[in-house]
Amino acid sequence: MAERKHLLDVDDLEREDVENVLETARSFSEVLRRPIKKVPSLRGKTVVNLFYEPSTRTRMSFEVAAKRLSADVMNFTTSTSSVEKGESLKDTALTLEAMGVDAVVVRHPVAGAPWLLRQWLQAAILNAGDGMHAHPTQALLDLFTLKDRLGELEGKTIAFVGDILHSRVARSGIKACRAMGMEVLAVAPPTLLPPVPLEGVETGYDFDAVMPRCDALYMLRIQKERQKEGRFPSLEEYTRLYQLDARRMGKARPNVVVMHPGPMNRGVEIAAEAADAPHAAITAQVAAGVAVRMAVLFMLLGGGEGGERIA
Ligand code: NCD
Repeated sequence: MAERKHLLDVDDLEREDVENVLETARSFSEVLRRPIKKVPSLRGKTVVNLFYEPSTRTRMSFEVAAKRLSADVMNFTTSTSSVEKGESLKDTALTLEAMGVDAVVVRHPVAGAPWLLRQWLQAAILNAGDGMHAHPTQALLDLFTLKDRLGELEGKTIAFVGDILHSRVARSGIKACRAMGMEVLAVAPPTLLPPVPLEGVETGYDFDAVMPRCDALYMLRIQKERQKEGRFPSLEEYTRLYQLDARRMGKARPNVVVMHPGPMNRGVEIAAEAADAPHAAITAQVAAGVAVRMAVLFMLLGGGEGGERIA
């Protein structure tokens, strides 16, 4: 990724780039275990978090990652900004760039917004989630977590379960897992699957049936805010068929990795006993998020040709 400037989606990355990010993130995760969790790699660089959608974990994760690299961080949230006064994305972005920012981390409800910013700005653009489209750093942190738990990913099986239709996490995650040679299953009611079949993915409606085949279960949040029309009769029915609960966990492989991007709807897609089980990797995903975002920021802003030491 040394010569690349932006991270818009995972299909921008070759498998080798992904391996590089994961390896660099591994070194940063060691830095994060030290008593002083900070390195000077991005001193003098400025990163702005431009968030047009509510977010706590992703914004904080990017903020912590940039700070641990000694970059200066500015947070731009729409409710406290001139967006309220009708300023356009382009004007906001140009204003930020005129202040001399080196990277813009953007989350936007409209798919494609980061690609527009790339046309308008000199700064590096990092997509932190655009509409229902893509969420590449989430996919990379998920791969990091999976590798940590499963070792070699080639040939391992992961099921993405639930609201795949509305999920940018699933869209980027599925591509990333496929690129690493994983077997990918998509399990959901037909109304929560995309109308166009997902390439290279086996789809199914029966969660119980696929359970024994899976090395990892990726539970997706039911995105109530994106559901304009009812896509299932009731939450009770959804829960009965697709919730990961203790009974279903009983059918899973003994060391199955349980994942969720957060925020969880406990009691809907995942029951407390699964979320808090020893095989759950949900907080490990959050920890991986900081290391992986450090790696991406470092590689886009300060990594040179990879010869520079990171720590
Ligand atoms: C996800 C998102 O916003 O796309 N969350 C996240 O990035 N932590 C998933 C979700 O909201 O369900």
